[in-house]
Amino acid sequence: MPIKKIRSYLMAKSYDFAMQSTEQRCLTRWRKEILATAHGDLLEIGAGTGINLRHYPVETSHITLSEPDAQMRKQLMRKVAKPNDKQIEVTAWGAESIDMPDASYDTIVSTLVLCSVSCQQTSLQEIYRLLRPSGSLLFMEHIISDNPTIMAWQRRIEPLWSFCAGDCRLTRNTAAAVTAAGFNIEWLTEEPMLGAPAFVNRTIRGVAKKPD
Ligand SMILES: C[S@@+](CC[C@H](N)C(=O)[O-])C[C@H]1O[C@@H](n2cnc3c(N)ncnc32)[C@H](O)[C@@H]1O
Repeated sequence: MPIKKIRSYLMAKSYDFAMQSTEQRCLTRWRKEILATAHGDLLEIGAGTGINLRHYPVETSHITLSEPDAQMRKQLMRKVAKPNDKQIEVTAWGAESIDMPDASYDTIVSTLVLCSVSCQQTSLQEIYRLLRPSGSLLFMEHIISDNPTIMAWQRRIEPLWSFCAGDCRLTRNTAAAVTAAGFNIEWLTEEPMLGAPAFVNRTIRGVAKKPD
């Protein structure tokens, strides 16, 4: 079995367990906070094992969960199969190329995904294209450190980390990339991810709007 397939199998199987402590310490609260305003037709990119599902409010009329990794998608399908009152569709789209017309969604969600997409700029352009005017990108992402020593370490270990952690990059300046893609950042909060190592703990969350 090729090494990437083994990595993806192990990551999908262990993801919820590996995240448990950080979820309890901060991520669950942050997810609830950013997802509270989700509404209308919603697309989540890189939905993983479906951790965000339980936080979507009733105002979300139709939910599309995209997840390009087959092993992650398998875990996701299990959560979706549990009875709930929402209309949910699962797709294999990568964030760089989504097979939907312009202005298809009111809300797009990205949590811990813009670190992993192969091209952040293309993914953000695609998100922008898919949102309706005044639609929202709800995001929670870890980003490059503002401490020069940690930043130097992030650059050093990034290739190894990326290989072990599903192509996750440590040195992306995601807030700047969101603004460069044409969004207006409505609010943004920065806090360290509790329990995560220093090289992966600087985290931003917030809401970015596509202008009218
Ligand atoms: C760290 S996990 C985050 C999962 C989930 N969003 C969460 O909040 O826990 C990163 C996810 O991004 C997905 N991913 C990787 N490359 C992607 C791409 N190009 N487009 C969309 N998702 C991608 C991975 O398969 C994985 O499920």
